Amino acid sequence: EKGGWDSFMDKEIHEDPAAVQRTLLGRLDKHGDINLDEVRIEPHDFKAIDKIIVIACGTAAYAGMVAKYAIEHWVRIPVEVELAHEFRYRDPILTPRTLVVAISQSGETMDTLMALRHAREQGSKVLAICNTQGASIPRESDAVLYTHAGPEVAVASTKAFVAQITAAYVLGLYLAQVKGAMFRDEIQSTLDALKAMPRKIQWILDTQTAAIQKAAEQMVNAKSFLFLGRHVGYPVAMEGALKLKEIAYTFTEGFAAGELKHGPIALVDEGEPIVFIVPPARGRNVLHAKVISGIEEVKARGAFIIAVAEEGDPDVERYADVVFWRPKAPTLMSPLVDVVPLQLFAMDMAKLKGYDVDKPRNLAKSVTVE
Ligand code: BG6
Repeated sequence: EKGGWDSFMDKEIHEDPAAVQRTLLGRLDKHGDINLDEVRIEPHDFKAIDKIIVIACGTAAYAGMVAKYAIEHWVRIPVEVELAHEFRYRDPILTPRTLVVAISQSGETMDTLMALRHAREQGSKVLAICNTQGASIPRESDAVLYTHAGPEVAVASTKAFVAQITAAYVLGLYLAQVKGAMFRDEIQSTLDALKAMPRKIQWILDTQTAAIQKAAEQMVNAKSFLFLGRHVGYPVAMEGALKLKEIAYTFTEGFAAGELKHGPIALVDEGEPIVFIVPPARGRNVLHAKVISGIEEVKARGAFIIAVAEEGDPDVERYADVVFWRPKAPTLMSPLVDVVPLQLFAMDMAKLKGYDVDKPRNLAKSVTVE
């Protein structure tokens, strides 16, 4: 059932494009309105939503962090993202106008399920973003948006992550529609930008794998890695760090690139590998300039720079030791491409070290205890 791949992880990373595509399928009805899958929330309740709290664990929580940037920008309501196990035990402020979004690949993560129950007891509506039809989390929610990534077998989540971002974006556009926060043509063009992403992910799979494999061979003995990104690149950095930690058992940490000067730069030593998620350079993007200056600073201290960057970025060409290129994409769409080389890199590192990439030690695919 690995379809010719030598691991499920390999197969599932190669299904990233299809996971995004299938999650978008049939989302627009004949009136041009966006559809969710199961909605047991009245339209006027949806319209009244004035805050979103995303609850999730692990990779799903990073997908939620990415979605925060997009949904706040599109819908203009605050979005908080909280690890489900923290949310549950801190007396969070919940009202009937709060929409709690539970993101879970398996739909059975006990931490997330307990947080969901708590939110409903407090009178909030819960919407599940889930990859497993009929699992406990969607069953106990007021609305469901399924990620149609197909079953994910490898313990480390890959295709589910890109599908979760896609689904959360659909939710954002749906809310923008019901609340009248965006014009119809803006919603349409954003959906079109999303629909273009599978082809861009495929480009990475088709053109970057050899460079990624080579980089893994070069760095297989590195003791630790730092991952840095800004804006939507920040959760992508944390997800990249998590993947490498989970399956290659390498010490990693993901940071917001702006924090570098507030602490992590003390760790930078000769040869220390640092992965930068570089934002698009177009439109004199101020974030791009800031990330590049971060690269310059650590480069001056001898760090080994690995960059994930937009095709042809001249600043990256100048400073990076290794580059994983990705096609041009709008900033909010870039996590869907930026994470892909990091998934491949983690897998290659783990394989080179001789580990079972599908079943990392000490981890389970779905953690059904609190
Ligand atoms: C962890 C898995 O235990 O649970 C991660 O190892 C996953 O891969 C996390 O991201 C959350 O799982 P789920 O099923 O709720 O998305």
